[in-house]
Amino acid sequence: MSKITFPEGFTWGIASSSYQVEGAWNEDGKGISIWDTFVHTPGKIVNDETGDVSIDHYHRYKEDAAMMAELNLRHYRFSTAWTRILPTGTGPVNPKGLAFYDRLIDTLLKHKIEPYLCLFHWDLPQTLQDKGGWPNRETAYAFADYARVVAKHFGDRLNVIFTHNEPWVAAFVGHFLGMHAPGTRDLGAALRAAHHILLSHGLASEAIRAGAKKPIKVGITLNLNPVYPATESKKDQEAAERVDAIMNRITLDPLLKGTTPIEEFKIVKPFIGSLIKPGDLEKIRSLDLLGVNYYSRAVIKHSAKVPVVNVEQVNPEGNEYSGMWEIFPKGLYALLTRIQKDYAPLCELMITENGIPVPDGLDFDGRVRDERRIRYLKNHIYQVHRAIQDGVPLKAYFHWSFMDNFEWALGYGQRFGLVYVDFKTQKRTVKDSGRWFAEVIRENGFEL
Ligand code: FCB
Repeated sequence: MSKITFPEGFTWGIASSSYQVEGAWNEDGKGISIWDTFVHTPGKIVNDETGDVSIDHYHRYKEDAAMMAELNLRHYRFSTAWTRILPTGTGPVNPKGLAFYDRLIDTLLKHKIEPYLCLFHWDLPQTLQDKGGWPNRETAYAFADYARVVAKHFGDRLNVIFTHNEPWVAAFVGHFLGMHAPGTRDLGAALRAAHHILLSHGLASEAIRAGAKKPIKVGITLNLNPVYPATESKKDQEAAERVDAIMNRITLDPLLKGTTPIEEFKIVKPFIGSLIKPGDLEKIRSLDLLGVNYYSRAVIKHSAKVPVVNVEQVNPEGNEYSGMWEIFPKGLYALLTRIQKDYAPLCELMITENGIPVPDGLDFDGRVRDERRIRYLKNHIYQVHRAIQDGVPLKAYFHWSFMDNFEWALGYGQRFGLVYVDFKTQKRTVKDSGRWFAEVIRENGFEL
């Protein structure tokens, strides 16, 4: 057996998001978000499940933080719910919302766990949605005001603030595919949302730097999928390039190069009009830290299935799959080395999410033997190590997720946690993978 060891100071962490774990959807003055609205609309979520209670982290954050510390976890990425802090998106601040995140952050710090705060993990205030949501440019300015409030209040205890989690998903799964809130199916709306979310990142970066009392690194987290053509045919290769432009380059180019693929992209041009105003791209290109979320790759063929873009995702036979995606560890290496080669980012680089849904359960002795997750993690973290060896200056790896939680449109059926949660009793049980990961952290590596 050989052991792989990570560079000294490599950061190991775990991630979650407000709507997926907090519950307490209407407590202590919290406003309604588009996810509250969406889950309460019949037919949108598997079994019409909701995050109303979820894993009740709002009330159990103390025991959850203690459990992190027991598992050697010292870096925690979470998001604040905009609607707890500014219940109507703009205007009056809700002191009880600030107080919750004060309690959470102070508890984490007491356990020597560093908080990595993310401002937006998809739960847009419903009042802003009613004024047009992300397709409306004004939302970007409202977001910057929210960022200022957060940076001013919590900045003394933070080293990092992420503005957004996965702008592509918020824009396209929410506005084009309609599978996430707000549930529209309109390519123009998705493209406008994507641009305004990125613009809001730039505006918020300025606001954070101006609002905080000490230097704070500003980051963003992107879902990136390496794209492979289904066959060697020219049509499939061009289809793969289109998907790469609209899924990966649409966020990477503005953030890291100050350009955008959508302006030169003939098929989407009619949908964007004068969307991108002079100066926008300069504002967006403001980044201290790039977070990469990796789950799978996309294998693409030419097809009329998705209108305008004319592409279809295929699932190659004979490969391994989880409840949601193809399992493709090598894609993580391909992605990281591609980012380095094509963009040579000057900012820090980290993995902010990676994980697998497994239908875990308790064995008769109360243990959760999730060997499949351990195998997934070994194979993926090995690729991370390879990328570092080959010159990608990666600083950190955050696992998704700490505990099983509400997996958006798929409800509670997809368990991603290192900790098993009985959703009826809220009992938490550390899975075998949780103990394995704790060892990886202690050893800063593992036996292959
Ligand atoms: C990512 C999301 C995260 C979680 C994982 C499985 O796209 O950022 O909230 O749902 O997928």
